[in-house]
Amino acid sequence: MFTLLLDRVREIVDEPANINEKLLSICRLLKNNVLHYNWVGFYLVDQSRELVLGPFIGEPTEHMRIPFGKGICGQAAERKATFIIQDVSKEVNYLSCSPKVQSEIVVPIFKNREIVGELDIDSHNLSPFTEEDVKFLENVCQVVSRLF
Ligand code: SME
Repeated sequence: MFTLLLDRVREIVDEPANINEKLLSICRLLKNNVLHYNWVGFYLVDQSRELVLGPFIGEPTEHMRIPFGKGICGQAAERKATFIIQDVSKEVNYLSCSPKVQSEIVVPIFKNREIVGELDIDSHNLSPFTEEDVKFLENVCQVVSRLF
């Protein structure tokens, strides 16, 4: 299934639409097709090296801007690495969006080795993320980096 979804992500990226429409379509695609993805969104790095909320599908979040280092998103940005928290109740440096969220994965988007954004996924399940998710989402972010 991930292979088909990745093909669809490539198609969306090549569509004649603006970047926000394309990112939103990708959020919708992932949320609608993977049961354990309950909130799917992009954060984009701005000039002051903060993460600014971009297109997302799921409940509204109060975390519109996140400094590098803060929360799971900020930690992934600082370390320039995929960050997986299989049980958010065990993570001290965590910014809660909804009490329903039990786990989270954040995958950086790189352009010329610099981080330009992140794909953030919340799940209502405990420990749902596998190596397959990591591989798939890192591939998605590699394709998405063509938009930057
Ligand atoms: N939980 C994130 C904040 C963003 S929301 O999940 C949408 C964090 O700890 O960085």
